[in-house]
Amino acid sequence: AAGRARTATASANANIALIKYWGKTDARLHLPTTSSLSLTLDETWTTTTVSFDGGDGVQDVVTINGLRAQGTAFERVHRFLSLVRERAGLGEAEAASVTSTSMVPLAAGLASSAAGFAALAGAASRAAGLDLDARGLSRLARRGSGSASRSVFGGLVRWNRGTDDETSYAEPVPCALDLAMVVVALDTGPKAVSSTEAMRRTMRTSPLYPAWVEASATELAEALAAAEAGDLERLGAVAEANALGMHATMVAARPPVLYWRPGTVAVLHEVATLRQAGLPVWATMDAGPNVKVLTDTAHAAEAAAALGGLFPEASVTVRRGGEGIRYEQPGS
Ligand code: PMV
Repeated sequence: AAGRARTATASANANIALIKYWGKTDARLHLPTTSSLSLTLDETWTTTTVSFDGGDGVQDVVTINGLRAQGTAFERVHRFLSLVRERAGLGEAEAASVTSTSMVPLAAGLASSAAGFAALAGAASRAAGLDLDARGLSRLARRGSGSASRSVFGGLVRWNRGTDDETSYAEPVPCALDLAMVVVALDTGPKAVSSTEAMRRTMRTSPLYPAWVEASATELAEALAAAEAGDLERLGAVAEANALGMHATMVAARPPVLYWRPGTVAVLHEVATLRQAGLPVWATMDAGPNVKVLTDTAHAAEAAAALGGLFPEASVTVRRGGEGIRYEQPGS
């Protein structure tokens, strides 16, 4: 691994799906059962620097928020780096140092892996000398974490399910709304069941899963039409139905995957109450107990103030639409 250290730095934001990705038809390539739709958020970045500098002299070194990654976290990054090395024609001996800083709590169902693997894909591919276009980068990010394929782009993004590695990628889609999310974080500790395991269990054992997959295609079409037409009410309603339907499939798995906590249910009820009182708010949830509330920028502050008042123990933050992947120019 002698020679010039090849280095690159990239940043990516988290994204929250309005029409969810839940289940893989190919576990190695991360090909999803369904196409999905998400909003990339602002102020949720992960910034990652990759240097093919020989790592610690023996193997890759991965440092996340100042701590050296071990176990599964290390293995996932290491496997991803090996994929990049293989594509770039670098040997396994060309170990890398990866340093990542994330402002999103890790593995808490707050989309840390989406931002993390999108940033890693950007930094690692550039450091390895691969010159990927946005679609190629989305495909590569997908191999780290499915949802990362969407964080390559800003704003509203559709991930086309595709049928193979080449056809499964994300791309931006038109949106006439100024969307915002109020993130109600009830518990930012790591989740008890990983999304990988929860998806596998749901696909194998939940009798409700096929029905959710079938509904998903129609729901995606409806969500895309609503976003393009600027119909927040229709978009919110279909997003909420899709997310709660996804959780219904998990609850019906054996053994069940129940990410909901008492606070989760309380927030869901209050969102419905606020909506009845005239505020345009709809809930969505991922692989964790936290609730993200879809609204538009005109109503986000009011929604956040109401939810913050009702749930003083929660951390309530407003996020708007954010941008896709960015690179730091070397030497700047
Ligand atoms: O990218 P993964 O493997 O962490 O899966 C994420 C799945 C959900 O967040 C629950 C849904 C989604 O579409 O992001």
